[in-house]
Amino acid sequence: MPRHFLRDDDLNPDEQRDVLDLADLMKADPVAQRPLHGPQGVAVIFEKNSTRTRLSFEIGIAQLGGHPVVVDGRTMQLGREETIPDTSRVLSRYVHAVVWRTFAHARIEAMASASSVPVINALTDEFHPCQVLADLQTIRERHGKLAGLTLTYFGDGANNMAHSLLLGGATAGMHVRVAAPEGFDPLPWVFDAAKQRAAETGGSVAILREPRQAAEGSDVLVTDSWTSMGQENDGKDRVSPFRPYQINRELLAATGTTSTVLHCLPAHRGWEITDEVMDGPASAVWDEAENRLHAQKALLTWLIQSQGVMDRR
Ligand code: CP
Ligand code: NVA
Repeated sequence: MPRHFLRDDDLNPDEQRDVLDLADLMKADPVAQRPLHGPQGVAVIFEKNSTRTRLSFEIGIAQLGGHPVVVDGRTMQLGREETIPDTSRVLSRYVHAVVWRTFAHARIEAMASASSVPVINALTDEFHPCQVLADLQTIRERHGKLAGLTLTYFGDGANNMAHSLLLGGATAGMHVRVAAPEGFDPLPWVFDAAKQRAAETGGSVAILREPRQAAEGSDVLVTDSWTSMGQENDGKDRVSPFRPYQINRELLAATGTTSTVLHCLPAHRGWEITDEVMDGPASAVWDEAENRLHAQKALLTWLIQSQGVMDRR
């Protein structure tokens, strides 16, 4: 069975640190390692829109010496009822890894279960683990460490970014707070998994309601869109409950410390984050976007090398 990266806790703390160290090396020297030299193919499939994920994987795979095959999943036979496992078996005969952005997380689990090559989650409704690797790389660049820092996420606590920050942050030994209005808490099974991981790493996880209180003492503030892809018509009010959770000058001041502000992008300026904060000195959003490239190259390299180890067994 190959190693997959479907959720942030698919990497243990040591493995996560190794991938982040490799990401720093990739950033210093973009062609230091070329594990896909051949070129070996990687399928990069999207069932939802993307700018950063698509571009960073496509360029990154090329820099690793490979050939990215970027496909709109909505035009595949997958969209005409070919099953996910059958699709996966076929892809495994062509490519050395599969990167997939899809809807329900169960779909990517089905892809992975039939795959003989690594499957990487490029965002599901429940998780966005590649983004959080880049976020962790960015935080470490700014603060010199991860363990012991307090990261607070503001907004929809039930979305993929909140879940991935809980799992990925807990793996890194961080104290992760989710500040969300009632009705938008993280899924209990995700929160429990993060709590368990935090107990192993010395981190912690918490859900808070009061935004200013949540901001106090935070080293990192993070937000995301109030309406994730696929939620546009879910019948919920996705504006008024979130307004008090906007990252703005007052919330940033409430941290009482020099905080870093992250947003995975795309941002809805004036909604979840103000222009002033997004364009201000605390914002690391452009480094964060750049680090998608380095973190994903490191992840691909690490997974392919693990796969090589397994092939030799
Ligand atoms: N942050 C992120 O995943 O961006 P895209 O949706 O543009 O890929
Ligand atoms: N939560 C957002 C992230 C976009 C990168 C979404 O799923 O649309």
